Amino acid sequence: MKSIKVGLLGIGTVGSGTFNVLKRNQQEIAARAGRAIEITMVADLDVERARQLTSGDVAVVNDAKLVVNNPDIDIVIELIGGYGIAKDLVLQAIANGKHVVTANKALIATHGNEIFKAAQEKGVIVAFEAAVAGGIPIIKALREGLTANSIQWIAGIINGTTNFILSEMRDKGLDFDVVLKEAQRLGYAEADPTFDIEGVDAAHKLTIMASIAFGIPVQFSKAHVEGITKLQATDIRYAEQLGYRIKLLGITKRTAGGIELRVHPTLIPSKRLIANVEGAMNAVLVRGDAVGDTLYYGKGAGAEPTASAVIADLVDITRLATADPEHRVPHLAFQPNAMADTPI
Ligand code: HSE
Repeated sequence: MKSIKVGLLGIGTVGSGTFNVLKRNQQEIAARAGRAIEITMVADLDVERARQLTSGDVAVVNDAKLVVNNPDIDIVIELIGGYGIAKDLVLQAIANGKHVVTANKALIATHGNEIFKAAQEKGVIVAFEAAVAGGIPIIKALREGLTANSIQWIAGIINGTTNFILSEMRDKGLDFDVVLKEAQRLGYAEADPTFDIEGVDAAHKLTIMASIAFGIPVQFSKAHVEGITKLQATDIRYAEQLGYRIKLLGITKRTAGGIELRVHPTLIPSKRLIANVEGAMNAVLVRGDAVGDTLYYGKGAGAEPTASAVIADLVDITRLATADPEHRVPHLAFQPNAMADTPI
């Protein structure tokens, strides 16, 4: 069978991870997908570096439009980030009938409704497993593994940078500002860490999980967002003395008044498993009415953990792309259900 042709927008950390994992595990991945999956075109502003990373195996261009407008490309992977250019490119790819895989939580959390609507009208799939909790297959768990359940609530450590900072503050008794500098030096925190430390990144991911879990549109603007910048080493020490750890949690809950959506530092009893998730790791706790509590743990960022999620989406789309479009779209597209109008 003909291979699926993939165009990659942005070959930074996750892009090169995706390229390398696809190449390394190509036979197993092809067997699972039912067809070979081939990155045939890469767009990146740094063409030279992109050529080196792909060892001359694929066409490299510096204009992403050449990828989304290329009729030979079946799936576009968007790894550019942000809302501006990335949104235009994703919408253009959809308009051209291409499936899209993205790790862009900001884009999905703020413009997801428009993007999913466009995809549904065009009969293509927009997949975003990598946008939430990196390598943890939490979207798949919510959408497929827990599909029999009425989800009661989700509580997650879904930002590795802040979890690293809080862990270091606890272990070393250092204040926030000092550890933030250390996190930047080690490459955990971005040069501009605002989205991480103010809770915005976690709120993006929480918004996406809530929309899947409760069948509501993505509504980032409704989230209560509070970061960790006001925490001091003494807060963490006192919490510890009382038998608690402080974690930045994203919490979404079904209540009588609607769906709660909030990110804030939270006291968790030290003996709970999730309280012991340390360093840059992520963990998501989901309570379903049938299954009870389930906990998902893993790396929420990084080249190959995130590539693992990107490639899972590529495989899903490859399997579904051979099915009748009438039947494949509802499987992965966002589907508001009876709770679509639930207030948040
Ligand atoms: N800045 C994010 C984090 C990266 O620290 O978790 C992955 O989304």
